[in-house]
Amino acid sequence: MSEQTTEMTPTVEVNYADKIPNNVNLSDDRRLQRAMEKWQPEFIDWWKSMGPDGFQDAEVYLRTAVGADPKGWAVFDYVKMPEYRWGILLAPKEEGRVIPFGKHKGEPVWQEVPGEYRSMLKRLLVIQGDTEPASVEQQRYLGKTCPSLYDLRNLFQVNVEEGRHLWAMAYLLQKYFGKDGREEAEALLNRRSGDEDKPRILGAFNEKTPDWLSFFMFTFFTDRDGKMQLESLAQSGFDPLARTCRFMLTEEAHHMFVGESGVGRVIRRTLEKMKEAGITDPNEVDKVRALGGVDLPALQRKVNFHFSVTLDLFGAEVSTNAANAFNAGIKGRYREDRLEDDHQLLNETYPVLRGVDGKLVEVEEPALNAINARLLDDYIKDASAGVNRWNKIFDEFGIDFQITVPHKAFNRRVGEFAEMHVDVAGNVMSEAEWNAQAANWLPSQADEDYLLSLMKPVTEKGQYADWIAPPKVGIDKKPGDFEYVTIES
Ligand SMILES: [Fe+2]
Ligand SMILES: [Fe+2]
Repeated sequence: MSEQTTEMTPTVEVNYADKIPNNVNLSDDRRLQRAMEKWQPEFIDWWKSMGPDGFQDAEVYLRTAVGADPKGWAVFDYVKMPEYRWGILLAPKEEGRVIPFGKHKGEPVWQEVPGEYRSMLKRLLVIQGDTEPASVEQQRYLGKTCPSLYDLRNLFQVNVEEGRHLWAMAYLLQKYFGKDGREEAEALLNRRSGDEDKPRILGAFNEKTPDWLSFFMFTFFTDRDGKMQLESLAQSGFDPLARTCRFMLTEEAHHMFVGESGVGRVIRRTLEKMKEAGITDPNEVDKVRALGGVDLPALQRKVNFHFSVTLDLFGAEVSTNAANAFNAGIKGRYREDRLEDDHQLLNETYPVLRGVDGKLVEVEEPALNAINARLLDDYIKDASAGVNRWNKIFDEFGIDFQITVPHKAFNRRVGEFAEMHVDVAGNVMSEAEWNAQAANWLPSQADEDYLLSLMKPVTEKGQYADWIAPPKVGIDKKPGDFEYVTIES
């Protein structure tokens, strides 16, 4: 890639005159335009029945994408969510782009789906696409207990953008996969998070998001899985997918900001309360709860839960499917373009922690088979860096406490460690031993009940629930008392 000069073609302006905003010249492809215009009202029906409950008429101060240029790509304004201009946005095409990895490395990227990889690609799009509406469904009732209008707006921003990510995948399916693709796009609107008969595809997307701490943890940990997957797909030799994912990443950054700053504000408020009351021991849980704060041990248990269920999203650590997708040039590694090796991995190995005869053992595996393990490791690094930023807040308050991410084998349902019982520190134990201590590691019913008891809505301008600190700066540099959501219209 490095010798190749890549030029960006001028960004196609987003056409907002069309029924479906787009920068892909949708009106040139009548068949596709008709298919998408048929899907659009079905999407709106889904949004109205499964999107934020009770706020469909509220005016929300949202950003809407108006271009694909990372600088100045969005405008902010009040909008009723069902009238949000969901559309199709791809990052600009790079002229001369070549397939960056795998056995087709160096060949021109594909603008159409190669027949031999059709089913592999379709599967990847469906799995990615399914997560987008799932999170909206999981977060459907949170608005009713918002800690502030600022947070309410951020929730809705995340929700409408996950809706747009669904559009992104539905577009690729309908444009490149004909009748099958149209059926899959319909199915994306028909599965339901947590539904027994037609659940969403991946486990973490069928969990509940009952309280705002869960929401912040979800956006921090689980949206970050989204980032890793999108970064890998943004490398794809199938160019429309690469361009789609590149633009989605621009939006995704805000979701992780919401999570990281949200948890950070909860920590800050707890520490303020502890300081005021002269509590220095984080294990004085009853005292902290009596003050209405989120105690740090409960917060750590939430981290353990969200981290471990998110790791399951990466699939089996050692995987021939992942090897095939890499070899095919369909799904790369995290930021493949910044890695310095042959990008084919035919003779390379990668150290993978495996469960062998009930023990955790590091095994050198062929690097191709270890693509998922590697992405998981990259995720753990990325998430840990964010956790370390939270830990600076403890230093600031002089409180001796650190949030840690649990061992990667802890509480797993998918992959190498699914059949093992491993504690947060990485000790293998029997099922009985594990169960006896699980309440120390994972949120208990009492934790959940306590968190729910804190979830009282605060909807006055500039006011915040007592368990969370206000943000340092407003969205779009708005002042502290800005009315981010007008509930009565
Ligand atoms: Fe998304
Ligand atoms: Fe997201």
